[in-house]
Amino acid sequence: MKQKSLRITVVMSAAIFMWISGVGMAADYRPAMLANPCAGCHGTDGASPGSIPSIKGLPSSYLVSAMKAFKADKRKGTVMNRIAKGYTDEEIELMAKHFSSAK
Ligand code: HEC
Repeated sequence: MKQKSLRITVVMSAAIFMWISGVGMAADYRPAMLANPCAGCHGTDGASPGSIPSIKGLPSSYLVSAMKAFKADKRKGTVMNRIAKGYTDEEIELMAKHFSSAK
């Protein structure tokens, strides 16, 4: 009997932990994390200091279609085809929202 209640406690704790971390995921930090590697070339929040195009503040629909076109090799680039292939469509949409609303 004792063992059984211990098992139930373990299962319940795991369930509560999963529920809490699930709630944590709902926080809106993912888009910024996804957008981090882009900063190396496109600048902080996509505001490029150099010859690489700025993507800050571009309409999110434009960013999504550009990334999907790179991903599908419908638009040719030097590096963006490879980069775009590393992201799911959902991640592309989250990143696009991040850059289009960057201030
Ligand atoms: C290694 C440098 C590099 C990284 C990292 C990089 N980009 Fe690019 N990006 C470029 C270059 C260079 C271009 C111009 C197209 C090409 O040559 O591939 C470009 C073009 C773009 C364009 C098209 C801009 C326009 O005006 O049409 C978008 C959108 C874009 N990048 C989004 C991103 C996103 C989102 C990330 C992060 C996941 C990212 N890039 C990471 C170098 C980079």
